[in-house]
Amino acid sequence: MVDLLRAFLLAEINMRVKDKEFKKFIKKKAIQKKVKKLASRINEDYKDKNPLFIGILNGAFMFASDLMKEVDIPSEISFIRVKSYDKTDSTGKMKKILGLEETIKGRHIIVIEDIVDTGFTIAEIMDEIKSGEPQTLEIVTVLFKPNALKKELPLKYVGFEIPNEFVVGYGLDYDGYGRNLKDIYQIKD
Ligand code: IMP
Repeated sequence: MVDLLRAFLLAEINMRVKDKEFKKFIKKKAIQKKVKKLASRINEDYKDKNPLFIGILNGAFMFASDLMKEVDIPSEISFIRVKSYDKTDSTGKMKKILGLEETIKGRHIIVIEDIVDTGFTIAEIMDEIKSGEPQTLEIVTVLFKPNALKKELPLKYVGFEIPNEFVVGYGLDYDGYGRNLKDIYQIKD
C-alpha cells in the first residue's frame, strides 16, 4: 500500500518524455493564474487599440489559446511558423518566417511566444514584423531564461523568469513530444 502510494506520488511529480526524465516545475494552476494576470495587463494597455496578436507555432499554441480566452478587448489573432535552415549566419541557423499575411502597417502588434531562450528566434521575428511598419510591437511570453539571453529585446509581458535548464510541457516539446502536458516540467540532472 505504501509502495503504491509512493509510486503514485512520484508519478505525480516525475514525467518521462522519450528518453529523458523531468520533474514538475510550474503547476497548471500557477500558469493559469499568470495567464490571467498577463491578459488583464494587456486588456488595460490595449483598450481601444484593436491589437493584432501573432502566435508563434508550434510552441505557443496552448498559451495563445489560454491567453485569448482572457483577452476581452476587440482584437485579432493570427499564427506564424519559423523554419530554421542550418549553416548560414553567425548563429549557425537562418530563419524564414512563414504565414505572415496580415497587414502590419500601423497596427498594434503583440507577438505570443512560448519561451525566450537565447532570443535569436524572437529577434528575427521582430525584425521581420518591424519591416512591415507596425505602430507598436511587443512580446508576451510564458517563460524567459534571462541567463541564456544573447539579444537585446523589449520583453514587456513575461510570465515566469526561469533558470537556464531545459523544460517541457504547456506547448514546449522535447524532440516533438510533451507539448500536450498541462504543467511545465524541468529536466532532471
Ligand atoms: P531561442 O531562439 O534560443 O530564444 O529559442 C527559440 C525556441 O527554442 C523557442 O521558441 C522554443 O521553441 C525552443 N526552446 C528554447 N528553450 C527551450 C526549452 O527549454 N524547452 C523546449 N523548447 C525550448
